[in-house]
Amino acid sequence: MQHGSEYDRGTGCGKTARPGLYGGCRVTGIPTVETVSRMSTHKSQRASSYVHGTAPEEQRRLSLLNDLLNEASLRELNLRGGERILDVGSGLGQFTRAMARAAGRGAYVLGIEQSLEQLAEARESARADGEEDLVEFRRGDALALALRDDEWGNFDVAYARFLLEHVSDPLAVVSAMVRAVRRGGRIVLADDDHDVLRLWPEPPGFMPLWQAYIRTYDRLGNDPFVGRRLVSLLHAAGALPVRNTWIFFGSCSGSPAFPGVVENMTRILIGARKAILSTARLDRKWFDQGIAALKKWSSLPDAALWFAMCWAEGSRRGTA
Ligand SMILES: C[S@@+](CC[C@H](N)C(=O)[O-])C[C@H]1O[C@@H](n2cnc3c(N)ncnc32)[C@H](O)[C@@H]1O
Repeated sequence: MQHGSEYDRGTGCGKTARPGLYGGCRVTGIPTVETVSRMSTHKSQRASSYVHGTAPEEQRRLSLLNDLLNEASLRELNLRGGERILDVGSGLGQFTRAMARAAGRGAYVLGIEQSLEQLAEARESARADGEEDLVEFRRGDALALALRDDEWGNFDVAYARFLLEHVSDPLAVVSAMVRAVRRGGRIVLADDDHDVLRLWPEPPGFMPLWQAYIRTYDRLGNDPFVGRRLVSLLHAAGALPVRNTWIFFGSCSGSPAFPGVVENMTRILIGARKAILSTARLDRKWFDQGIAALKKWSSLPDAALWFAMCWAEGSRRGTA
């Protein structure tokens, strides 16, 4: 990719990116469409795993992300009060507890999470806030939901945020969520479509770095573009899709949210550094230059970033 100026204000490399393709960017050491296609491995041949990990630094990032998104997510969820709620892949439990607070008296909220580290942190934060009785956190795999017989079909709401992008079989998860709610119950999915990201003026070398990050998902057997499939997944799982929208969480310099949005982005990439470098077979210098460009860009007076979380809701068919 040739840049006439430091910031590409013309046709950015990212602008040419299309779903499932890689923008056709040509930077030394960056994989092209052809090389990435050859490198990619069929889903079923790979075990799925969680790209972000659970190191304390990553937990701080996830917590920051919750600070950025929870208010808007709660607004979108529009709980009526007193619901029985299942949160699948509940992570640090911040939003699980936010739902419980919003649902208020008579509510029961269960968070299911596979990672012992996340569960420990979720329980510890709940205890520190005097909310240990607000929700139940249970260890379990979203792909084999650990519900008791009397719990299946008994929830009013099943919710999963930023989970489907990390599992090898999103449809199996959504199907279980449909079975977990009563007839007429709500299944709410919120997830990423990584192709949505736009930065302007485009920091040199950043979009190829983002594309390499995206590739780490399908190398793990997961779908980096699952956000666009949420309605399809609800339909395929037998639910009636009733809502499709997204929650914007971009920003621009001068906005109070901007430093947090940039920090989230930077930490995501740094946290996935090893995976990016091994997936894309890139040298460290290239990675570090992309991060440095992002940092420099963030101090521009006209830096703007667009990103959004896809959001879809379905209803379990049949009357209650
Ligand atoms: C990006 S975090 C999102 C956490 C929370 N939903 C939120 O929005 O803050 C994804 C979480 O899903 C968990 N996870 C990934 N795969 C899972 C699986 N198969 N079963 C249960 N949890 C899983 C991860 O350990 C992590 O805590």
